[in-house]
Amino acid sequence: SPPGAHTHTPSSALGSWVFTPTSCLFPPPGRAVDGNWNEWSSWSACSASCSQGRQQRTRECNGPSYGGAECQGHWVETRDCFLQQCPVDGRWQAWASWGSCSVTCGAGSQRRERVCSGPFFGGAACQGPHDEYRQCGTQRCPEPHEICDEDNFGAVIWKETPAGEVAAVRCPRNATGLILRRCELDEEGIAYWEAPTYIRCVSIDYRNIQMMTREHLAKAQRGLPGEGVSEVIQTLVEISQDGTSYSGDLLSTIDVLRNMTEIFRRAYYSPTPGDVQNFVQILSNLLAEENREKWEEAQLAGPNAKELFRLVEDFVDVIGFRMKDLRDAYQVTDNLVLSIHKLPASGATDISFPMKGWRATGDWAKVPEDRVTVSKSVFSTGLAEADEASVFVVGTVLYRNLGSFLALQRNTTVLNSKVISVTVKPPPRSLRTPLEIEFAHMYNGTTNQTCILWDETDV
Ligand SMILES: *[C@@H]1O[C@H](CO)[C@@H](O)[C@H](O)[C@H]1NC(C)=O
Ligand SMILES: *[C@@H]1O[C@H](CO)[C@@H](O)[C@H](O)[C@H]1NC(C)=O
Ligand SMILES: *[C@@H]1O[C@H](CO)[C@@H](O)[C@H](O)[C@H]1NC(C)=O
Ligand SMILES: *[C@@H]1O[C@H](CO)[C@@H](O)[C@H](O)[C@H]1NC(C)=O
Repeated sequence: SPPGAHTHTPSSALGSWVFTPTSCLFPPPGRAVDGNWNEWSSWSACSASCSQGRQQRTRECNGPSYGGAECQGHWVETRDCFLQQCPVDGRWQAWASWGSCSVTCGAGSQRRERVCSGPFFGGAACQGPHDEYRQCGTQRCPEPHEICDEDNFGAVIWKETPAGEVAAVRCPRNATGLILRRCELDEEGIAYWEAPTYIRCVSIDYRNIQMMTREHLAKAQRGLPGEGVSEVIQTLVEISQDGTSYSGDLLSTIDVLRNMTEIFRRAYYSPTPGDVQNFVQILSNLLAEENREKWEEAQLAGPNAKELFRLVEDFVDVIGFRMKDLRDAYQVTDNLVLSIHKLPASGATDISFPMKGWRATGDWAKVPEDRVTVSKSVFSTGLAEADEASVFVVGTVLYRNLGSFLALQRNTTVLNSKVISVTVKPPPRSLRTPLEIEFAHMYNGTTNQTCILWDETDV
């Protein structure tokens, strides 16, 4: 019924009228009513069955009537939902590298593996094998006669070793490093042990010097002063005086001396006369007759003759140009005689060796006929006017035992003799009249006398 109407309903039996005050149920006509929200619906199902999804709920606006205000706020609301993690299938990672072969020769196998990452949350497992094998070791196995048997030699057990390989055991207690022993095949193809070599064994005393030198070299390379260098050289004189135990000691000392010249060259430090004397004394100690066998062994790994000469050459160079107030240095030891002269190109004189009138020259070097003359023309030939102020350094060394020590390097018959080296720095441009060397004849009817000139100027 229209708003405001009165409804009259006949009331059956009584025949009377019931008046229903409908006016109470309706607002007065024309009164504005604002909209108001009904209850929210329940949340809808999540949009994703796994991982992140969305769900929503809605509500309806009741009204408005007679120009009342709209409902305020949203009719729909959404939110994230998450029912469960999605399943992730397993995936193989890359194969790892092949493992080592099960044998060193003949047919063997090696294996590699891969790892499955996953599965997670009920995903499928990785398909296929997680490891595989392949054949390896195609090298032929040595026959029994091509293998050096286990051997007890020099109080050491040398384990069975195939020909062509090197067995190694630790050096004796007072040394560091490894003794090496090679198994070789003879001409008939039978394996045999070579003698062990001690080129990789360094006595503790020598090892300590090596470590100290390394520290000083590192400092010198940063341009720091050379404090303590003299003490290291002094210590090495004392140690080398007592001889060497292993050929590795010789090699380590050569290494130390080589780096010492580098320290002299780089450090903010002028070598002292004491340093020069000690350096030469160390060389002399190394060349002592007692070290002959160790030298022969050391030659197998270097230093060869050239390296030793180069060491001395560098030393002459560095002393000549880095030592303060140097004019002449002269050293005579048991096993070598060394002289260093520094002279200006203008006003140079001939240089003779050994120096005349030198009292302490050892008997072995005192053969009056032995003489080296470096003519002053060496220093002037080819020099331009601008080089007038140049300074030359000349070093001459007479070695005592070197010839026989170097036997492995050179023809024995030739080097069974005296060895002399002459160094001129900077190298002269012309060697037309370089030097004269006179040696007393050693010819006694057993061998032919020979003189070889070992010219290193091209290097
Ligand atoms: C090291 O030990 C060996 C063998 O026992 C010995 O001959 C050598 O003199 C020792 N060397 C030093 C420096 O002690
Ligand atoms: C000498 O110098 C070389 C090159 O820098 C280095 O490898 C070696 O360890 C050094 N040895 C010593 C004893 O200083
Ligand atoms: C060694 O030197 C001599 C003389 O120069 C020469 O006759 C001989 O063939 C050389 N021997 C070798 C193995 O080089
Ligand atoms: C002279 O020859 C003998 C061998 O007959 C040898 O032992 C000796 O060392 C040689 N002397 C010199 C100075 O070469």
